[in-house]
Amino acid sequence: MRILLTGVTGQLGHTLQPILSQHHEVIAPTRAQLDLSDAAAIAAFVADCKPDLIINPAAYTAVDKAETEVELAQAINAIAPGVFAEQAKKLGIGLIHYSTDYVYDGSLRDDNGKLPSYTEDAPTNPVNVYGKTKLAGEQAIIASGCKYLIFRTSWVYSTFGKNFLLTMLRLANERDELRVVNDQWGAPTSANAIADISAAIVAQLNSAEDAATWWTSHQGTYHLTTKGRTSWCGFTQEIMRQASAAGRLQKAAPTVTGIPATEYPTPAQRPVNSCLDTSLLATTFHVHIPEWEAALAHVLGKIA
Ligand SMILES: NC(=O)c1ccc[n+]([C@@H]2O[C@H](COP(=O)([O-])OP(=O)(O)OC[C@H]3O[C@@H](n4cnc5c(N)ncnc54)[C@H](OP(=O)(O)O)[C@@H]3O)[C@@H](O)[C@H]2O)c1
Repeated sequence: MRILLTGVTGQLGHTLQPILSQHHEVIAPTRAQLDLSDAAAIAAFVADCKPDLIINPAAYTAVDKAETEVELAQAINAIAPGVFAEQAKKLGIGLIHYSTDYVYDGSLRDDNGKLPSYTEDAPTNPVNVYGKTKLAGEQAIIASGCKYLIFRTSWVYSTFGKNFLLTMLRLANERDELRVVNDQWGAPTSANAIADISAAIVAQLNSAEDAATWWTSHQGTYHLTTKGRTSWCGFTQEIMRQASAAGRLQKAAPTVTGIPATEYPTPAQRPVNSCLDTSLLATTFHVHIPEWEAALAHVLGKIA
């Protein structure tokens, strides 16, 4: 297939490109080649590229900055996906798009006050600008009537870029104590895990006898994260445990102390419960979903 892939300088796009390129022709414009805040440029690029599939991991991901850069976040997270979707509809091709746990408000509790995982049909109610714009992007795609897969993921990290794992590894070499939020819950998800699962699904589409029938039976919104859950503090403790065991720290691992989110105020509010149920993804596509600790070990093994 000829695949138009966005966000190639980002964590997920960068990880997806070499995997998809093994079996497909991948057209992956950088921001300089295609600015996603320019809707007309997107339409012209797609018309010129004539892809068989569009994959859109690009996004405005600066969650705190989005609180003040509302218009730009809206252009990239809400309007651009809608334009890709309209073009996909026009060409009769599919669109794979990525969204976020932040479409939920994180208040889901069971009768015992425990935190269940969100299923795809749970009511959305974003509590920050980033989440609102990402939800608007989902809605624009669905309203377009194109063939689509929307994968909501969470707490993304990779071997490069600006992410929690690399920040904690850097701080581990600078500090003796790390104070990290322990009352927000979710699944740290590596870009590698998302890319491997996405590529497996693209392979299923590519080998389907009839692509139109495949889309009819698979189209929809799915939760795509690793298995299991932890807090940011638990994630940090596991990073330190694995990095230390592998001899990757330049000094003794720092003490990791849990703190409530109220002690680490940020411009954007974040959900307490970010846990997403991945059963629908697993039963629909029969893909391997790794445990979050195993996905972390895999990424740590790739960091020099
Ligand atoms: N990161 C997370 O923790 C997280 C959590 C949940 C869901 N997600 C979702 O997962 C997906 C992948 O995220 P990620 O972590 O890979 O994001 P990322 O590393 O921040 O990469 C974002 C990509 O989008 C590109 N981009 C942003 N504005 C653009 C513009 N105006 N024109 C063209 N390209 C533009 C960036 O290009 P530049 O390099 O030029 O800036 C970059 O390539 C996104 O849909 C995100 O919303 C992420």
